[in-house]
Amino acid sequence: MCGIVGYVGNKEIKDILIDGLTELEYRGYDSAGIATLQENNIRHFKSIGKLVNLQDKLKNYSSDGFVVGIGHTRWATHGKPTELNAHPHLGEYSYVVHNGIIENYQEIKKSLEQKGVNFVSQTDTEVIVHLFEDFYKDNNDEFKAFEKTLNALKGAFAVLLISKIDNQKIFFAKHGSPLIVGDDENGEIYFGSSDSAMIGKAKEVIYLEDGEYGYASLDGIKLFKKSKSKKLHKKTLTQDKIYAQKDGFRFFMEKEIYEQSEVVNDSMMGRVLDEQIDFEELDKNFFKGINEIQICACGTSYHSALASSYLFERLAKMQTSVEIASEFRYKQPLMKKNRLFVVISQSGETADTLETLKMAKKAGMKTLAICNVDNSSIVRTADKTILLRAGIEKGVASTKAFATQMMVLWMLSLYIAKLKNSLKRKKMVKELQSIREIPSILKITDKLHEKIKRLSKRYLHGHGFFFIGRDIFFPLALEGALKLKEISYLHAEGYPAGEMKHGPIALADSELFTIALMPKSLLYEKTKSNVEELSARDSTILAVSPEEFELADDFIKTNHSAHPMGEFFEMMIVVQLLSLEIAIRMGNDVDMPRNLAKSVTVE
Ligand code: AGP
Repeated sequence: MCGIVGYVGNKEIKDILIDGLTELEYRGYDSAGIATLQENNIRHFKSIGKLVNLQDKLKNYSSDGFVVGIGHTRWATHGKPTELNAHPHLGEYSYVVHNGIIENYQEIKKSLEQKGVNFVSQTDTEVIVHLFEDFYKDNNDEFKAFEKTLNALKGAFAVLLISKIDNQKIFFAKHGSPLIVGDDENGEIYFGSSDSAMIGKAKEVIYLEDGEYGYASLDGIKLFKKSKSKKLHKKTLTQDKIYAQKDGFRFFMEKEIYEQSEVVNDSMMGRVLDEQIDFEELDKNFFKGINEIQICACGTSYHSALASSYLFERLAKMQTSVEIASEFRYKQPLMKKNRLFVVISQSGETADTLETLKMAKKAGMKTLAICNVDNSSIVRTADKTILLRAGIEKGVASTKAFATQMMVLWMLSLYIAKLKNSLKRKKMVKELQSIREIPSILKITDKLHEKIKRLSKRYLHGHGFFFIGRDIFFPLALEGALKLKEISYLHAEGYPAGEMKHGPIALADSELFTIALMPKSLLYEKTKSNVEELSARDSTILAVSPEEFELADDFIKTNHSAHPMGEFFEMMIVVQLLSLEIAIRMGNDVDMPRNLAKSVTVE
């Protein structure tokens, strides 16, 4: 989730841009840069790491007079966090900043290289500025060149572009990633990927809609969609920065639950092809001699690891073992070279997980990290990394990282299935079809959220919760229980539904709340009979299922899905929102629960 800012006016631009990028720091980044254009003089400043490094480079710069400029904080999706990969990206006489993923950047890059264009970065973004200049060469019309560039891009993008062709303007476009343009009482222009970057500067703003683009100068904002001029839909800008950073949600965790549809879509970009999965970070030789998978992780990442083991065995026919990192470290484990050693970590800094990775490296195993933070210790240690592209996760209780982990692991199981030829083409196509449906399944309806908000009031006491499920819904039950524990401080356990009769059912009574995950697409009848056993002993049941369950005390209806993973993602939303709404009723600090840290960098 990168940050974008822009400015057209007469103030000191470095203060405007740096202040805007500082307000966007909460979105997370690993490098930053700005570019300015005055008269015919185009300048750029870039740095890796924190913004203070960029400010250092700007200390002898001042804009002094009319200027246009753009700025960017980068969260790596393509290419390591380096100065070369930091935005803005330069053509011959233009600069661009971009947030999102250009799915077809490799084919564009190839065709431009064949025309003799030199690329300096590993990013997808750089193709935008070279394509713009290439189109400009054809027709000498910068606006048409900009339109043609946008039409050639596939994927998600929010773009700002400045060019020596016209040093009065900033070109902008919004498609799939957020972008806002606004102005102040003097007609000076401001841009931001979140309105928090514009508070105290712009007075009125336009929350650009997908497909809108145009240019802005001191003569005003010109807005277009499908080559037709559009009326400016301006709104007065809020002056509450924290409220803006949460995009109007009550907590970052709530915002991140709602972001899951978008970030899971990002995690799929350029990876879900017509008939197969592709990871540009991997190559098939990496899997030579590998016929087993061993995964180590902690907490929520352990739950996604456990769920993925069902997929790796079922789809890729790869024997898969999953271990809690803190246990694995001290059990004198077998480390076999025919196993791919996988670590899963949102932060990339979890001490226990990192240590298991070092153990595997020492034992000469091939290692793969599935991680959300590029350049983290785990990423720097693993042989290969697949980035989650979830953007910064502020809530201590992990949500969108879990969702993107599940998507990446599902895609990886299909990637390996292709290599091992373990899936028929027809089955692969059906899997890919199901994958494509997930972003829309993750869109939360007001009806669902209101229902969960209402029924959460009944679950504020009692002597505890069981979350139960079978197959991939057992790890989801573990995850639901962890979410509830973490932020409501109520006791909850995740359990395989089939295990209840082996002891836990002794706890069953009306004060015991059971959250039963009852998917229709997988072992429904088996799960249903387990839940009936609990209900017969007076346990209070909250059934989550596409099928009405008459014995439930509460019922949340989910949708039928052809694939169990479709039900998995929808029920994931339910257990996340349930823990959120119970914790809010308890008056807890959902984003910063007691005793917890976002990243456990100690043993
Ligand atoms: C999850 O909600 C918790 N915050 C915690 O269990 C977390 O998943 C665990 O500490 C692992 O963190 P990592 O994914 O950054 O390695």
